[in-house]
Amino acid sequence: MRAITLLLVAVNLTVIYGLFISPEMIEQRFDGHSVYRVKSSSEKDFRSLVKLFETDTMDFWTMPRRGGFTDIRVNPEQNFHLLDFFRNNSLSYSLHIKDIEGIVESERRNNIKLKTGGIDWKAYYRADEIHAWMDSLADFYPGLVSVVSIGKSSEGRDLKLIKISKGGVPKPTIFIDSTFHAREWISSAVSTYVINQLTTNSSQYKFLDKVDFHILPLVNPDGFEWSHTQDRMWRKTRSNHGSSFGCRGVDPNRNFGYQWGGSGTSSNKCSEIYKGPTAFSEPETAALRDYISHSGTDFRAYITIHSYSQLWLTPWGFTSDVPADYNELESLAKRGAQVISQAFGTQYQVGSSTNVLYAAAGGSDDWAKGAAGIKFSYTIELRDTGHFGFILPANQIEPTAYETWQGLKYVANSIASDLI
Ligand SMILES: *[C@@H]1O[C@H](CO)[C@@H](O)[C@H](O)[C@H]1NC(C)=O
Ligand SMILES: *[C@@H]1O[C@H](CO)[C@@H](O)[C@H](O)[C@H]1NC(C)=O
Ligand SMILES: [Zn+2]
Repeated sequence: MRAITLLLVAVNLTVIYGLFISPEMIEQRFDGHSVYRVKSSSEKDFRSLVKLFETDTMDFWTMPRRGGFTDIRVNPEQNFHLLDFFRNNSLSYSLHIKDIEGIVESERRNNIKLKTGGIDWKAYYRADEIHAWMDSLADFYPGLVSVVSIGKSSEGRDLKLIKISKGGVPKPTIFIDSTFHAREWISSAVSTYVINQLTTNSSQYKFLDKVDFHILPLVNPDGFEWSHTQDRMWRKTRSNHGSSFGCRGVDPNRNFGYQWGGSGTSSNKCSEIYKGPTAFSEPETAALRDYISHSGTDFRAYITIHSYSQLWLTPWGFTSDVPADYNELESLAKRGAQVISQAFGTQYQVGSSTNVLYAAAGGSDDWAKGAAGIKFSYTIELRDTGHFGFILPANQIEPTAYETWQGLKYVANSIASDLI
């Protein structure tokens, strides 16, 4: 009886998802989805949360964090289980966001209203719009800007990178990327702001006499588009690795080939932190690796922009050990974070990923430092600290971008003055 029921259920699911209504056509709704915020006050709390994290069944918006908060999204079916877990482990928690659907819908309505003809920093824009704008900059500033595609995503989108250089011989270069994780919309809004500053105001920035910038705003354009059209909470790429449950995508920030597959990663194809079948299984991560390794550029900094939590993180993410030159990395990050706070008081915490958060092997910053040998390798987790989380209102784009730009200019100035 039981076997027959299960079989029927399986057949039904196949019919629903496989034949009549392809999942591509149903937009993901978040009715009754909640975000809980839980505090790790002790090592025991932290360990309990890590245990839950490792069961790989819930969407952790932020990683377990010693002495800090962790935000976890649950659907209505998971709600009871999570509360049970909190009580069993005496964790103190609060209901942080009650109905994600309402927030997602109002974000969508607002964004339509706020959008103008071109790119600005008052609304969130789509992959095609960002890419077309980059091309237009290359037309407008031919002596300063060039745009290349460093490869294609799984779904065939270009991975467009913009090079900003005052010309002459290629200079030591700062590499910036964003939108590894699809739902972190603010990240590409910040990198496009940086591009805009460096191009429209290039004469103001003396450090451009010493350094070039290579910026890849959309590392994961497929996931980014998916998060705009189908599932606002999408995080991973959109590749197909043959999951029997139809789960798609790999966490590109667990897919890099430096200590790949270590702590804080998953082999479960449905997991939000699925590391992929092999290191660099994703065309997006492979393209980034190939570009950094083979473009012949002297990269001095690798800065990957994520959200959220307001953290300026250094390697390593695979171990709680820190690199030999950690003091230098930390000191520059601390000064950068200080400069950020001078704009509007936004506070960033600085430290190594594993020590501030929890281990996450296979990250691009670890690879940039450990394999590509780029000295100043950082992950910046932008605003906020969780009030809005991934759904950062559009009226925070400009201040977020402005303050981050102050920190990044500080890095550029430091690197440029070291070169004199
Ligand atoms: C909580 O504890 C009860 C009693 O030990 C157990 O049956 C239940 O499975 C636990 N729930 C979770 C989510 O750990
Ligand atoms: C360029 O710099 C000027 C002067 O600092 C500033 O007012 C202007 O907003 C900048 N342009 C852009 C695109 O931010
Ligand atoms: Zn991220």
